[in-house]
Amino acid sequence: MKKVITYGTFDLFHEGHYKLLKRARELGDYLIVGVTTEHFDEGRGKINVIDPIMERIENVRKTGFADEIIIEDHEGQKIEDIQKYGIDIFTVGSDWTGYFDYLNAFCKVIYLDRTPNVSSTILRKNKFQIVRIGVIGTGRIAPRFISEAKYVSGIIVNSAYNPEKDSLDRFHRRFEIDCYSDHYDEFLENVDAVYIASPHETHYEYARTALEHGKHVLCEKPMTFTRREAVELYELAQEKDVVLMEGIKAAYCPGFQQLINIAKSGKIGEIRDVEACFSRLADPDSREIADAKYGGGFLEYGGYPLLPIIKLLGINYTKVDIDSILSDTGIDLYTKIQIRYPGAMATAKTGVGVKSEGQLIVAGTKGYILAESPWWLTRKFEIRYENPSIIEKYEPNFQGDGLRYEISEFVSKINKFGMRGYRLTAEESIAMADIVERFMEKRKKEAKA
Ligand code: CTP
Repeated sequence: MKKVITYGTFDLFHEGHYKLLKRARELGDYLIVGVTTEHFDEGRGKINVIDPIMERIENVRKTGFADEIIIEDHEGQKIEDIQKYGIDIFTVGSDWTGYFDYLNAFCKVIYLDRTPNVSSTILRKNKFQIVRIGVIGTGRIAPRFISEAKYVSGIIVNSAYNPEKDSLDRFHRRFEIDCYSDHYDEFLENVDAVYIASPHETHYEYARTALEHGKHVLCEKPMTFTRREAVELYELAQEKDVVLMEGIKAAYCPGFQQLINIAKSGKIGEIRDVEACFSRLADPDSREIADAKYGGGFLEYGGYPLLPIIKLLGINYTKVDIDSILSDTGIDLYTKIQIRYPGAMATAKTGVGVKSEGQLIVAGTKGYILAESPWWLTRKFEIRYENPSIIEKYEPNFQGDGLRYEISEFVSKINKFGMRGYRLTAEESIAMADIVERFMEKRKKEAKA
């Protein structure tokens, strides 16, 4: 019996898939089809897959060509499968010609002609409108957003807005997109969505106006300085039926999500303490230090350490203690926030003038999770126990600088596919705004004193 194997994502099942499977089956007597997991696809940069795995498997099954369907979930699995199942022929479409020649050492490799003019990528583009997004603010993050957006299908960055002409001109020379330095309304007319990466104090106003115009909003952290404003924005987004998302990058990284899920699975017992730190020494002339009103470590970086705390311990904290070491101008060089929950506690530390270890520790009644710097990208973490010889290591997939996962989530939400809202809920984002508000109140009091 001649055994054939082929692999694919088979997203939005189409004619090209059908013909490929038919011809693959005709190459032998028994066809095994490997369908990729989302995790595996994410790892190889395919982050826009729409159909859930069970649906993709079902579509392959319905063709009647597969005698057996298996799951492909890791790099190197093809060699394993070929040996395990005693495969004679490995086949795949001609878009992969040459790429799998190394498998010739294990079986025969055949590249079948690809069906022209159809692909999941084309279907994804046709199925959903391309989201035209405008960037507000053209400082440090905006260029990163543009380069990472290229890895997400279904989105084009078509314009930028910044009332500061110099910065906008520099940006315009670098990226040839429409630029607006006034007429915010006009800028909004030509976009479906905005990414707000302007100075903190402008986030709320830009977000509110964009939402009022029915635009989807992805807003850098902190989205607002008060709880009330955050609630108002989420209510407005709901009323206008548009997406509002706070841009806390870590929340959307696959590794961070895995860490959270493992912590919640009971593997380390009951979670009793979450300790997270993010520090980056800033230049004395930088906005973080020089801006006496809105500079400082907490406003800049507070979203990072607060995220695992809120995700793991929730929004029902009973006490928040904030303490800072201030500069001469009154900005916080270092801030430590202690948050108390019934039965658990947490510490969030941020610094722009004090350097500390940027780690995340989640302590439980059976063990703890340690994620070393840069834990917010979550490329690796460990679970440790009382017995020091047991260490479980995790090295999740991570691509680029991580922003692409946030952008992908935003596009998915706009297109209303997937149930991805859980990665950072409105309630969690509002709880963070509440802590920002407490910080701002304290800062105001200290400034008066
Ligand atoms: N395939 C094909 N003809 C097409 C599209 C795909 O023969 N027009 C083949 C691929 O070469 C592969 C299999 O179908 O062997 C599964 O491909 P997959 O990557 O799932 O589909 P694509 O449409 O190529 O997906 P994407 O656009 O996301 O890359």
